[in-house]
Amino acid sequence: MNVYDAERMADILAPVGYMLTDTPDDADLVILNTCHIREKAAEKVYSDLGRIRLAKGARADANAMVIAVAGCVAQAEGEEILKRAPYVDMVFGPQTYHRLPEMVARAHRRTGVVLETDFPADSKFDHLPEPAAKGRTSAFLTVQEGCDKFCTFCVVPYTRGAEFSRPVEQVMKEARGLAAAGVREITLLGQNVNNYRGYVRGSAAWSLGRLIAELAEIDGLDRIRYTTSYPADVDEELIAAHRDVPALMPYLHLPVQSGSDRVLRAMNRRHTADDYRRLVASLRVAQPNLALSSDFIVGFPGENDRDFQDTMDLVQEIGFAGAYSFKYSPRPGTPAAIMEWQVAEGVKKDRLAALQDLLNAQQSGFNATCVGTELDVLLEGHGRHPGQLIGRSPYMQAVHVSAPDNLIGTIATLRIDEAHSNSLAASLLENRQTERAID
Ligand code: 5AD
Ligand code: SF4
Repeated sequence: MNVYDAERMADILAPVGYMLTDTPDDADLVILNTCHIREKAAEKVYSDLGRIRLAKGARADANAMVIAVAGCVAQAEGEEILKRAPYVDMVFGPQTYHRLPEMVARAHRRTGVVLETDFPADSKFDHLPEPAAKGRTSAFLTVQEGCDKFCTFCVVPYTRGAEFSRPVEQVMKEARGLAAAGVREITLLGQNVNNYRGYVRGSAAWSLGRLIAELAEIDGLDRIRYTTSYPADVDEELIAAHRDVPALMPYLHLPVQSGSDRVLRAMNRRHTADDYRRLVASLRVAQPNLALSSDFIVGFPGENDRDFQDTMDLVQEIGFAGAYSFKYSPRPGTPAAIMEWQVAEGVKKDRLAALQDLLNAQQSGFNATCVGTELDVLLEGHGRHPGQLIGRSPYMQAVHVSAPDNLIGTIATLRIDEAHSNSLAASLLENRQTERAID
């Protein structure tokens, strides 16, 4: 979502004369868009700011550069940033960036620090221009933002605010614009994307499943994905979309966090490990090719060896094609940060290593099963070697292939020759080079 937000910041600043540069060295404005989800990400802000300050200091006129901090660290630690990094000129949260032209003008006038971390009553989406999508084959589209779930480890409900769904017509318009500009694949974004409730005049709100079915009708949009979903909010309409909508890719990121019911309860996750098993089973009935990825936290307060084993057992049983896993990181202001029985760092480290060994083996195993099969690959651009293109399989695997440039932006059916831990190598099939997946 930060990638999407950063793109939209560029879109809103373009009409007032800003364009992207490759380095901060000669920039008039540097925006550091930040993440607060774990301590490591939040701390990185200060080392990055130190480097940006050097670039500012190296300029003949240091006032020529405005330094801004955006995103969830800005939201959570606005005042603290200004104290620790007094050379920062602007701090604004994730819900106020539609005001950027006005904020930037104020900052350039140098009449004091600009701080905008409120949650405005109006939605930024009502003020953003059409996204600039030229030359892209795949794009993000935020449909929902914020979270009301309050998992006890998580800062998102505090930094991104309450759940909000963009109205259906606004989403459809943005999607049509992307497709018209040549985008073939969209990833629908939301912290709780499957709790999407899109306003439609004269009808009940649309669910995510309904929205996906409608988006699939847009000419040129061949692939739809969504992330991140919350297991307890997966409904029948979404499961049906996995069965009935061919454009909906058979790859789903469905965070489970832990395989232990004790830990899930302490996390306030509102589902058990068995609920998750049952849900995956129904999704696999709807879409037998479904590959899954997930998020895991090890070392949540009170997690014992038995709980951790429950997580390993769940992973073993479900089988994941990919995953993100983290050591629990206490976050200021969240209930879990002050729970008893915090787990020792060494224990967290060992559990993470064991879990990642298993998940990596599953990912490599999944990639290996693709060798010898044919996959539809959306070719997105050039690879590292001359004559090589790179694209994505339906399962989000990076795929390399020797192929002519005119295939960029098309979906080609490729034969998979080799599997590596993080990518696949493929070759073109004779005679069928430009066939599209959906045609
Ligand atoms: N510590 C570790 N991991 C966390 N996540 C969220 N908050 C924390 C935390 N305090 C992970 C969860 C979530 C993903 C986006 O980040 O697994 O799904
Ligand atoms: Fe955070 Fe996701 Fe839980 Fe919301 S549902 S509190 S975003 S982990």
